[in-house]
Amino acid sequence: MNILVIGQGGREHTLVWKIAQSPLVNKIYCTPGNAGIAQIAELIPMGDNFAELVDWAESSNIDLTVVGPENPLAAGIIDVFRERGLSAFGPDKQAARLEGSKDFAKQLMMENDIPTAAYQTFDDPDEAIDYIKTTDTSVFVKADGLAAGKGVIPGRTIDEATQAVNTILVDRTFGDAGDSIVIEEELIGEEASFTVLTDGSHCIPFVSSQDHKMSHDGDTGKNTGGMGAYSPAPVMTQELHDYVMESVVYPTVKGMNKIGCTFKGVLYVGLMITDTGPKVLEFNCRFGDPETQVLLPRLKSDLVPLMMACIDRTLNQHTDITWHTEAAACVVMASGGYPNPYQTGKSITGLTEAEAIDDVNVFHAGTEQDGDNIVTAGGRVLGVTALAEDLKTAIEKAYQGVSTIHFDEAHWRKDIGYRALSRI
Ligand code: AMP
Ligand code: GLY
Repeated sequence: MNILVIGQGGREHTLVWKIAQSPLVNKIYCTPGNAGIAQIAELIPMGDNFAELVDWAESSNIDLTVVGPENPLAAGIIDVFRERGLSAFGPDKQAARLEGSKDFAKQLMMENDIPTAAYQTFDDPDEAIDYIKTTDTSVFVKADGLAAGKGVIPGRTIDEATQAVNTILVDRTFGDAGDSIVIEEELIGEEASFTVLTDGSHCIPFVSSQDHKMSHDGDTGKNTGGMGAYSPAPVMTQELHDYVMESVVYPTVKGMNKIGCTFKGVLYVGLMITDTGPKVLEFNCRFGDPETQVLLPRLKSDLVPLMMACIDRTLNQHTDITWHTEAAACVVMASGGYPNPYQTGKSITGLTEAEAIDDVNVFHAGTEQDGDNIVTAGGRVLGVTALAEDLKTAIEKAYQGVSTIHFDEAHWRKDIGYRALSRI
């Protein structure tokens, strides 16, 4: 098979790395890709014009297109490939609203009794502020649309919540993504990510994982795309796992079918494990980043037939997927300043030394080739990932990898997995 992967981050490098291990695969292309992906796939310099992409895929005999990020999914890239009769992995435009509109997701949860925080949706700032004054709990104010993980603002006081409403609805910091907002009550507990593959009827759960969203140690600083991840997440017991499948995953998939939006692809459920059980914080319609960097190294089975089965709706024939028993940890090395403005073009050294450590993989995120050098080209630069017999050792090994790598002003969290370690 010839496979095209769309995207350029650590998630996509991990996808390409895993796909390259499939005996079914002949050639992998990626657009736009990064310097790490370029070592295993041919980079195709294409823009985000779907018509041009599908023309290229057709003329290049692409058998499967895998879409990494949410933006093209929400914009309907799958529909364009499907109309042309080409296989593409991910939900179509209607189904991708599960991530593309927080209000859509909340309505679906309400209609299907899926546990989540109480909420209200507003497009008028005065009405939103009046509502805030009537609530006596802390809230989270969320831009309805896609805002690269940055559209969620805590409102722990009336002033803070009011400011969040103004940031989104009045200042329009997130543009059209902030045409409306969801205000929901704060949930207290420990977070966990739950990832499943689904063909719209059948669901195959992945092993559990957890990311670290805040930029600095102790979960302080600013919200980021994710500064590290680990798998398994000990908070997700077998009992909770069964509950989430029964009370969240299947009702979501069935609920989407009921309204004519069959969801095929990766359903990522962000959960808060509260005293009264798991509650949904968000749905994503694609693999998590950096969760993918710890999930796929643990997957023993071939990913390619699983993705094809999601498209063909034959996932029930693949219930025998297998996992490595080892744990995985990923430490993200970011550009100094991220998630605030940062500089790029810094030369990266020590990659080969890190990769030489047993069971360490360096997944590239924001990197590019500059002559003989690999240089930084984004906020999150690398995801240094290790597999080991237990989580503590996996974390130590990932940090051993990090210690060999250098670029000017590199920043990384020193406490990846601390919650998990305190549970073990
Ligand atoms: P989201 O993109 O909706 O998952 O929100 C991003 C992050 O904000 C989550 O990972 C949580 O850490 C936090 N968050 C969002 N909604 C809530 C909530 N209702 N209660 C507590 N934390 C929340
Ligand atoms: N790591 C969180 C996400 O991918 O949305």
